[in-house]
Amino acid sequence: GPQFGQVVVLFGASGDLARRKLLPGLYHLCNAGFIPSCRIVGVSLDDMDADGFRQLARKALDEFGSRRVSDADWQAFAGNLDYVALADGAAALQAAVARAEEAMGVESRRLHYLSVPPSAALSAVRMLGQAGLVERSRIVMEKPFGVDLASAVSLNSQLHEVFAEEQIFRIDHFLGKEPAQNILAFRFANGLFEPIWNRNFIDHVQIDVPETLGLGPRSGFYEQTGAYRDMVVTHLFQILAFMAMEPPTALEPAPISEEKNKVFRSMLPIQPEHVVRGQYAGYRQEEGVDPTSETETFIALKCFIDNWRWAGVPFFLRTGKRMAEGQRIISIAFREPPKSMFPPGSGVGAQGPDHLTFDLADASKMSLSFYGKRPGPGMRLDKLSLQFAMHDTGMLGDVLEAYERLILDAMRGDHTLFNTAEGIERLWQVSTHLLEAPPPVRLYPPGSWGPKSIHQLIAPHAWRLPF
Ligand code: BG6
Repeated sequence: GPQFGQVVVLFGASGDLARRKLLPGLYHLCNAGFIPSCRIVGVSLDDMDADGFRQLARKALDEFGSRRVSDADWQAFAGNLDYVALADGAAALQAAVARAEEAMGVESRRLHYLSVPPSAALSAVRMLGQAGLVERSRIVMEKPFGVDLASAVSLNSQLHEVFAEEQIFRIDHFLGKEPAQNILAFRFANGLFEPIWNRNFIDHVQIDVPETLGLGPRSGFYEQTGAYRDMVVTHLFQILAFMAMEPPTALEPAPISEEKNKVFRSMLPIQPEHVVRGQYAGYRQEEGVDPTSETETFIALKCFIDNWRWAGVPFFLRTGKRMAEGQRIISIAFREPPKSMFPPGSGVGAQGPDHLTFDLADASKMSLSFYGKRPGPGMRLDKLSLQFAMHDTGMLGDVLEAYERLILDAMRGDHTLFNTAEGIERLWQVSTHLLEAPPPVRLYPPGSWGPKSIHQLIAPHAWRLPF
């Protein structure tokens, strides 16, 4: 673990992400001994005291934590929690951090976690500057980083007035998922697929992340954000980069970022006519939502990486709320063989092309689907598959969740799984056409796969999901 005592200053401490992931994650890291000594100072707009914050944290652990919390463990953790209301200002924050450091009595480092919407990020950064909490500090910036190119450029430059680049960790929790990192292992540790990982053999790629979840208490944030900013320009493009990048010269932050950024540089601007924006019926009636809202709760798009390896290969991305199923898959469709000798009606090709699928569910799964002969007279083909599930290997043990892994990496100063200013700015640049001239939102029934036009978008191919 990190060698120093850690003071975590958690902005947005009462928000959805803090309650769902960050507080349970920090609890697990402390409880399991990954962080030798840790104090957490919550900060948010809410007017409460340290006891109020402890209650909130306890509820969050009970509701969202994956482990039962014993009373003794809770007491040990709760003693490390403190709270400052934003209204109390920089001096109160400085005093709370000083108290925490004194209580730990060891040399400490600070991790400032900004779990706040883009509009609030800068004032939190300034408050840290005013409070003198820059030295011995690292800062984690949640996504989305800005809301467009101009705001990201300005956020980066104002951030750099307070923090040096090596102190900044732009997080994208999809990169902390085990199966996402397994894409790198799969691609770069094996000879089998390396020769065919390009436009000559791959017909198209799908990155499909439907969610069944609605928005609930997040609709205020989401109204300003929408599916594209919440999921595509962030998580889905990061996964795309892992799928598409060239082998880095080393598994280190700079070479990895360089290869990812080359993918982003090669992306063609997203064309609004290659985008389907959807909104589930009933969204406008939800609390906190404008009754005439044009915010998309669903998006599907086609994009291209115009480089030597991928020119002409469409990448289809889709994600949305209140859809039929929760899935996170990447599916690579191979090109048809040059000639088919199978008689019409044999079934060849009838179930789409042969393909390789990565499932980004919490434990990696993979499958390779191919046509094979169905036993019996004649030559009838069926789609068969080879399946791998990490779950069956017995190797899973007590795995760190994505956020836990990344928080620990940030505490250790390891940037490998974080994003650079350049990469993020380029992704906003690629998005500019779309953000300036978004196609109208189309309604879709909750529990469906999105508006009907998703089929035209992908034709003559078909969405791999539902399985
Ligand atoms: C978050 C988005 O970053 O990722 C949410 O803001 C989304 O809208 C979530 O539901 C999905 O993450 P996961 O890890 O559950 O796939």
